[in-house]
Amino acid sequence: MLAKTPPMGWNSWNTFTKDINEQLIFETADKMVSEGLRDAGYEYLVIDDCWSERQRDENGQLVADHIKFPHGMKYVADYVHSKGLKFGMYSCCGLMTCAGYPASFGHEFDDANYFASVGIDLLKYDNCYHPSSESKLSYARMALALRQTGRDIIFSLCNWGNAEVWKWARSVGGHMYRSTGDIMDNFESIKKLSNSQKENLGYSAPGCFNDIDMLVAGMSGTGNISTFDPVAMTNGAEYKGCTDGEYRYHFAMWCMFSSPLMIGCDVRNMSPATKALLLNKELIAINQDEDARPPIFIADNHGLHDNTICVKFLADGTYAVGMFNVYDRKVTAILPYYEMGLDPLCGYALEYTDVFTGENLGVRRDYGMFEVEPHDCRVFRARLVKVK
Ligand code: GAL
Repeated sequence: MLAKTPPMGWNSWNTFTKDINEQLIFETADKMVSEGLRDAGYEYLVIDDCWSERQRDENGQLVADHIKFPHGMKYVADYVHSKGLKFGMYSCCGLMTCAGYPASFGHEFDDANYFASVGIDLLKYDNCYHPSSESKLSYARMALALRQTGRDIIFSLCNWGNAEVWKWARSVGGHMYRSTGDIMDNFESIKKLSNSQKENLGYSAPGCFNDIDMLVAGMSGTGNISTFDPVAMTNGAEYKGCTDGEYRYHFAMWCMFSSPLMIGCDVRNMSPATKALLLNKELIAINQDEDARPPIFIADNHGLHDNTICVKFLADGTYAVGMFNVYDRKVTAILPYYEMGLDPLCGYALEYTDVFTGENLGVRRDYGMFEVEPHDCRVFRARLVKVK
C-alpha cells in the first residue's frame, strides 16, 4: 500500500514559489540528508509550480524550463534518488497551472507518461483554470493515467477542499488531498485551516490522508508566500511570520490530525528551534502512527471554548494528548477524563510524558490540568494506569 502513513517531505512552493532551479534542489536534497530530515522520515522532495517552459514542445510534451533546469527533470530526479530520497512534481487539472504554465487538461496520459519517464514518485495535482464543474472526474482521469504507467506514484490532490473532496479522494485513487485553501505564514491562517477540518478527519486513513496544507514552520516571514499575506504587506520589513510557540502549535496540530508533513521553509538555513521541532521524534511518531485515528475533540474546556484539546488513540495502546491555546494569555487547560470516556470511578487515570521535554509528569487523577503559554501548545504521550 502506498501512503500507509501520512507522506512526509519538502515542497518548494512556500518559500521559493517561481524562484526554483537545479542548484536549489540539489542543495535542498543534500541538506535533507545532512540535517537528518531524510532519516526522520521526510522522504519526498517535491518541486511545485513554475518548473516548465511556458509552452509545450512541438510534440505537445511538457518541457523543463531550460534556464532553471538546464539538464532536464530526469537529471534532477536521478540526483534526488541518489540521495535516498523520493522525487515529486506538480501539474494541474486545468488548462493552465495556477501560475500560468501549461497544465494537464486533455493531456493526462501524455503527461503521466512524461512524469513516469522522469521517475517521479509523487504528483501534486492542482485545480486552477479548470473548465468543468466536475472536479472528481478530472482527478479520476489523471489517476487512471498515472496508474497505467505502472510506477508507484503518490497522487496528491490539490482542489483546496472543493466539492467535499474528503468524501471521494480515496475513490479516485488519491493518497492525500488538500482540504483547505493555501496556508500563509501567520497564526490566523494556521488556526483557520486546522479548525476547518475537525469534522472531516474521520475520512482520513491509511492510504489516503487529509492534507491541511504544507508547513510554514521555520519560515519566519522569509518565504515568497509571505508577500501574498495582507499582514505581511502592511507590516512590510517588520513582518516576522510566526513565533516559535505558534510554529509548535502548527506542527503539533498537523501531527495530531495525521496530516502529511511537507516542510515549506528553506532547509538550508534552519534555526535550532526549527530543527528541533521538525525533527521531534515523538511528534513525528504521533503523526506517523500506523492506525491514523482521528482525535477525540474535548468539548468541555471550562470556558476556553476557542481552544482545542484532543486525544488521539495510538496503535501501541497509548494516547497522544494535545492542548492548544489560541488565546493571547496563558491558560490552564483541562482534560476532564469523562469527556474521553474514562469514568473517574473506574480506578484508572493517565500518566503523562511531555513530548517536548521528555519529562515524565506523573499520574493525574480525574483530569489532566496543564498550563499552556499564549499561542502555544502542550503535547503529551499518555498511558492508562491503575490507581487503586
Ligand atoms: C495553489 C496551491 C499551492 C501551490 C500554488 C502553485 O493552487 O494551493 O499549494 O501549488 O497553487 O501555483
